[in-house]
Amino acid sequence: MIKEIKANKLNTAQFISQKVNEIKNAVGKGLAINALSGGVDSSVVTMLGHKALGKRLKTVFIQNGLMRQGEPERVVSLFKKLGVKVEIVDARREFFAALKGITDPEEKREAITQTFYKKVFGRIVKKSGARFLLQGTILTDVDETIAGIKRQHNVFEQIGINPQKAFGYRILEPLIQLRKDGVRKAGRALGLPNEVFNRIPFPGPALSARVIGEANPQRIETVRKATAVVEKLLKGVKAFQYMAILHKDRVTGMRAGRRDFGQQIEIRCWDSIDARVATPTKLPFATLQKLANEILRNVPGIVSVTYNIATKPPSTIEAV
Ligand code: XMP
Repeated sequence: MIKEIKANKLNTAQFISQKVNEIKNAVGKGLAINALSGGVDSSVVTMLGHKALGKRLKTVFIQNGLMRQGEPERVVSLFKKLGVKVEIVDARREFFAALKGITDPEEKREAITQTFYKKVFGRIVKKSGARFLLQGTILTDVDETIAGIKRQHNVFEQIGINPQKAFGYRILEPLIQLRKDGVRKAGRALGLPNEVFNRIPFPGPALSARVIGEANPQRIETVRKATAVVEKLLKGVKAFQYMAILHKDRVTGMRAGRRDFGQQIEIRCWDSIDARVATPTKLPFATLQKLANEILRNVPGIVSVTYNIATKPPSTIEAV
């Protein structure tokens, strides 16, 4: 049983020094690796690991082909300013090969987990001689995996998987007692810029969690373009998270007076504190129209745009 630390009870200075010490003690004189996706959790872990290990922490950005527009460059330059060197590892071919033909959501998540932890990380860890992977698993990830709602890509020990045996390295999870609001508080105390710790959450399986059906390069590119529009237009909105989802079903549309059997984008925008329950944000209709117009104009192949008005539960935040 993991003991939760509620955000309002979190003493950030004490938490940071305790976690830094735990990382130092576990890793000893060795090396550790961490994967930075640019999301809130992995950014906070990177800063904790950097504080504990300095150059003995190797930080990599796995370019899996499923990230948002401009993300690798953004992450590298942002962390450079914070004194952290980030190496980009191009693994696009491996991820798309693993996702090929898979339509079932849980199988998709499993394919990403295996590619990430076994193949790509297994190789990086072996090559570097590191014995530890630092990662930003939070309590909500564990809860949802144990409850069988979603197999979060980063949860192992709690469901009986020994990473040492399965992948050949140990995993350290300094944020496991926190939820998103606590992680944000720790991020601010670690000196991360506001744009990082206040960023909307983004899932580990990245844009593949937002493509219903097969996540191939073309369909990922479609949802990437729609995501860019949604993030740009909803940037100033006070919401927990917003996203674009590409549907599998096609619908009849028309373009230039001709039939166009096209694709559908669903927009979701959530109000939530910690992602456990969520309600759709009451966006002004004019905002929804602007979103639709810009998506229809900028994302090839889309003929329908909808807004999700269901709550979580029974919905979940991501569609996959
Ligand atoms: P759901 O879709 O389960 O999402 O309602 C709850 C929150 O978790 C994020 N999410 C993930 N985060 N690995 C992560 O690190 C995952 O596999 C994953 N799946 C969902 C989601 O974006 C939301 O904030």
